[in-house]
Amino acid sequence: MNTSSENTIRIYVMGSAYEVPRGLTIMSAMEHAGWRFTRGAGCRSGFCGACSTVYRQEGDYRLRFVLACQTEAEDGMYLVQLPFTPAPRVSYTLAELNPDENVLLQHYPEIARCVSCNTCTKACPQDIEVMDYIQAALRGDIAQTASLSFDCIQCGLCSMRCPADIKHYHMAQMARRIYGRYMSPVTAHLEERIAEIEKGVYEEEVEALVKMTRSELEEIYAARVVE
Ligand code: SF4
Ligand code: SF4
Ligand code: FES
Repeated sequence: MNTSSENTIRIYVMGSAYEVPRGLTIMSAMEHAGWRFTRGAGCRSGFCGACSTVYRQEGDYRLRFVLACQTEAEDGMYLVQLPFTPAPRVSYTLAELNPDENVLLQHYPEIARCVSCNTCTKACPQDIEVMDYIQAALRGDIAQTASLSFDCIQCGLCSMRCPADIKHYHMAQMARRIYGRYMSPVTAHLEERIAEIEKGVYEEEVEALVKMTRSELEEIYAARVVE
């Protein structure tokens, strides 16, 4: 049943119906309805992965997976909010790892259970080819795993849906760390910049930034030179 008017839509939060203004994100629509995010909200800009949300559309049995801060609320959405994803993460010391092709499989052996169902890819709100990075990890291709998972925001939706209990995002983070520590080419200007920071070259500048008001910061941010 279409319940929208020109300016409002009807959403359902944990079963209760609310009329909310059209054009809000799911997060803002829920807040408009009186929902208080004590968890499940962080950056509000699509970066932190805290706002994983599941919904169904009226008349459709399928579940859909999105970020509440990035997705516009639509008429007839049945929403539930997920608690954070407590997928276990393996402990390791990056500097002591042997970064050979078996390292990911040794730390996350469950990746060998992948049945290639592609559910993880379909669940990903970042449109990452999640199954492909799991397959790359299985082949021992750390660089490819790191590259394919680069846009991961650790929301955990892939792991919640995986029938093989794989902790995709923790494994992929490990691949990116290994790549950064052992495999990425050294860039001379980065080395120089680190040396400058260690010498304290920017301390005065940082001190001044810390004292600025929000509007002063916005002004210099808008005026910055983008290379
Ligand atoms: S959801 Fe799990 S089993 Fe299915 S493709 Fe992804 S990693 Fe493999
Ligand atoms: S790969 Fe998994 S944890 Fe990362 S953004 Fe996609 S669904 Fe979220
Ligand atoms: S609140 Fe950070 S991604 Fe939505």
